[in-house]
Amino acid sequence: MHLTSLALSHFRSHKAVRLTLDGRPVAIHGPNGSGKTNLLEAVSLLSPGRGLRRAAADDLARRPETLGWRVVADLAGAGAAHEIELRAEPGASRAVRIDGKAAAQVALGRLVPMLWLVPAMDRLWIEGAEGRRRFLDRMTLSFVPDHGAATLAYERAMRERNRLLRDEVRDPAWYRALERQMAEAGAAIDAGRAEAVARVAAAQDAGGAAFPAADLEIVAGGGSRGSGPADLAVALAEGRGRDLAAGRTLTGPHRDDLAAAYRAKGMAAAQCSTGEQKALLISLILANARALGGAPILLLDEVSAHLDPDRRTALYDAICGLGVQAFLTGTEAALFAGLEGRAEMLAVSEGPDGSSIGAG
Ligand SMILES: Nc1ncnc2c1ncn2[C@@H]1O[C@H](COP(=O)(O)OP(=O)(O)O)[C@@H](O)[C@H]1O
Ligand SMILES: [Mg+2]
Repeated sequence: MHLTSLALSHFRSHKAVRLTLDGRPVAIHGPNGSGKTNLLEAVSLLSPGRGLRRAAADDLARRPETLGWRVVADLAGAGAAHEIELRAEPGASRAVRIDGKAAAQVALGRLVPMLWLVPAMDRLWIEGAEGRRRFLDRMTLSFVPDHGAATLAYERAMRERNRLLRDEVRDPAWYRALERQMAEAGAAIDAGRAEAVARVAAAQDAGGAAFPAADLEIVAGGGSRGSGPADLAVALAEGRGRDLAAGRTLTGPHRDDLAAAYRAKGMAAAQCSTGEQKALLISLILANARALGGAPILLLDEVSAHLDPDRRTALYDAICGLGVQAFLTGTEAALFAGLEGRAEMLAVSEGPDGSSIGAG
C-alpha cells in the first residue's frame, strides 16, 4: 500500500499542504524546524495510536489559531483504494473516517501497516521496557491487524482490575470475570507478538551485511508464565496477593520486554555501539517490511544523516528493492543523492505562513 495523496490543514506548522505521490520513496529535506517531522507525524496518524510523537489531539492543532486540524490521505495498492480522513476539533479527540464513513481508530490497522524510526528511538535498547514494548507492538500490528483491538480489550479490563486492587477488594468473585477477559486478550497479544518475532526472524536471514541480523526474544515481565489463556488466568489469580500490595497488576503482557542481540557478535543490543544499535533497528524494520512483502509504509526520520555513505546506499537499495513507500527526512538534499531518479524529492521550508513544500 502507498499514499497517492496527502492533504494537511492546520496541522502543526502546516497551514495548508497538498501532496500528490506516485508510490516511490519520498525524500524530504529542509532546515531544522521547517516541518519535516510534522509531515511524517501526520502520516503516522494513519495508523492506530497517537502517532510517532504520541501527541494529544490538541497539540496537533496549528498555533496560534488552534482551530482544529485535518489530515486526508488517499491510499492505493493491492487492488484496493481507500480515503482516510482524520480530524479533531478543539478540545475533542480525533475522529476517523474511512471512505466517508466514521470508523474506529483500530480499523486503521487493517488498511496499511506502518513502521517508523525516529531519533528518540536511538536510546530504545538502553532505556525502559516501555519503548521496546511499543516497538514490538507496532511490529506485531503490522502482521496482526487485530492486535490493536486485543491490546485495548486487555488494557480496559486491567484498568478495572487495578481499580479493585487499589480499593483493596479481596473477594475473588470480583476478579474472575475481569481476569478471564485479561487472560483471553492477553493470550491473543502473546500469540501476535510471538508471530511477529518469528516472522521478522525468518526474514532477517536474507538481510544484507550493512544491517546486521538481530536475534529477538520476548522476555516475560513480572516472572515467567505460560502464555495460553488458562496459564495467564492462573498467573493473575495467583498474583492477586502481590498485586493487592502493589496496588496494580504486576504480571502479564503489559510488563513484557523485547530483548535483541547482534547475532554475528552474540552481543546484547544494549551493549552495542550507538551506530550498531541504530543499524540493528534499521535491520529489524527492513526485515519486517520484507516479511510483509513490501506492503508497509516506512517513516525514517533523520536516519540517513547518521549512516556512513556505504550504509546509506545499502539502505536506499534495500528500500527500492522492496518497493516500499518510505518517507525519509534529512536537513540536506545531498543526503539523498543516492536516491536520485528513484524517489520523489520534496523541499520543506519555513515561510511567513507556516511550512511550505515544493519539489526538491
Ligand atoms: N501546534 C503547532 N502549531 C504550529 N507550529 C508548530 C506546532 N507544533 C510544532 N510546531 C512548529 O513546528 C516546527 C518543528 O517542526 P518539525 O517538523 O519538528 O521540524 P523538522 O523539519 O526539524 O523536523 C517548530 O518550529 C515548531 O514550533
Ligand atoms: Mg525533525
